[in-house]
Amino acid sequence: MKITDVKLTAIGMPRLTGFVNKHVMIQLLTDEGVDGIGEMSDFSHLPKYTIDIVDLERTLQQLLIGQNPFNIASINLDLSNNFPEAMYYYEKGSFVRNGVDTALYDVCAKFLGVSVSDFIGGRLREKIKVCYPIFRHRFMEEVEENIEVVRKQFEKGFDVFRLYVSKNEEADEQFLYRINEEFGGKVKIKSLDFSHLLDWKQAWRIAKRLTKYPVDLIESPAYRNDFEGLRNFRMKCDLPVSEHVWSLRQQLEMIKHDSVDIFNVSPIFIGGITSARKAAETAEVAGKSLLLGTTQELSIGTTAMAYFGAALGNLDYISDPTGPELYVGDIVKNKVKYRDGYLYLPDRKSTGLGMEIDWGLVDKYRIKDLSWEDVTVHQLQDRTS
Ligand code: LMR
Ligand code: MG
Repeated sequence: MKITDVKLTAIGMPRLTGFVNKHVMIQLLTDEGVDGIGEMSDFSHLPKYTIDIVDLERTLQQLLIGQNPFNIASINLDLSNNFPEAMYYYEKGSFVRNGVDTALYDVCAKFLGVSVSDFIGGRLREKIKVCYPIFRHRFMEEVEENIEVVRKQFEKGFDVFRLYVSKNEEADEQFLYRINEEFGGKVKIKSLDFSHLLDWKQAWRIAKRLTKYPVDLIESPAYRNDFEGLRNFRMKCDLPVSEHVWSLRQQLEMIKHDSVDIFNVSPIFIGGITSARKAAETAEVAGKSLLLGTTQELSIGTTAMAYFGAALGNLDYISDPTGPELYVGDIVKNKVKYRDGYLYLPDRKSTGLGMEIDWGLVDKYRIKDLSWEDVTVHQLQDRTS
């Protein structure tokens, strides 16, 4: 089998909050008539420059046309050479590699007539427990709005939430207090996420205040790539500490410094299922736990993560991918399913990723490029419109 063409389509998908996230769908066409699809999810993050998708499509055509898609290892080497790791959480090259790598798994599994699960170690579970995100409070009035979000999502079956904290600790505390009052033990807060916005000492001061309320773990409570800072925080805190993996080098440093208890791994931030599996195995060797993170993918990206997560032996904590529940729409006929706070894998009998593009929806959400609208850094960090 040979790849005969590569096509990219930019998608602008609004969230229920109004914030529009820009994604790129990739299609790999082959001489066997089977096509692979993948997703470069959520380019709407800093740094505030953009990829020219016409140019990227041409680059990927040069790299991939004529290649056998089963050569996943060698194609990943080519991708790493062209889109190298940059030790940055939102490195756009990782998003590009992720899209291509996912599409390789899709096309190869489809060609063989099997599920992507049959390609990457099968399934230890058919569903993955996830939590719904509560975005960062900046103003006191947002507490009430966020309580309303919890009420609404609780009705839909989500009973675990995670809270982005640290821009208004008064509001953060008020939110936790209100949740405890209204829901008691019925709703759980999985994590307080500091998103690398604070120095570890400032994070520790706020964490002490907020962990009067029950939470499972603390995420990203130090500046990016401050491995000692993370460890200092971890040594003070009784709760487990998690951090995203955005490069294998960064993961190695976190292991050397014993910076975390849990690695937050997601294909989008490490550049695909292939790299994510490497990071997950590294975590296992180092005796660390895992959780599945997210950038808030559409269904194609989310389902790829579900296959990856279903084969992990050390997925010890509640995971994060809830993208399809945050957006107003999707671009597939069969959206991923959530029930009782679980992300369900597609039927094992489906082939590839088990996703079918809905071209009507693609046309509805298609955009011409990834150019930035008029958004501020605060809006980007806090996902507000
Ligand atoms: C989102 O897009 O909502 C997330 O990626 C936010 C984040 O960076 O945690
Ligand atoms: Mg995101």
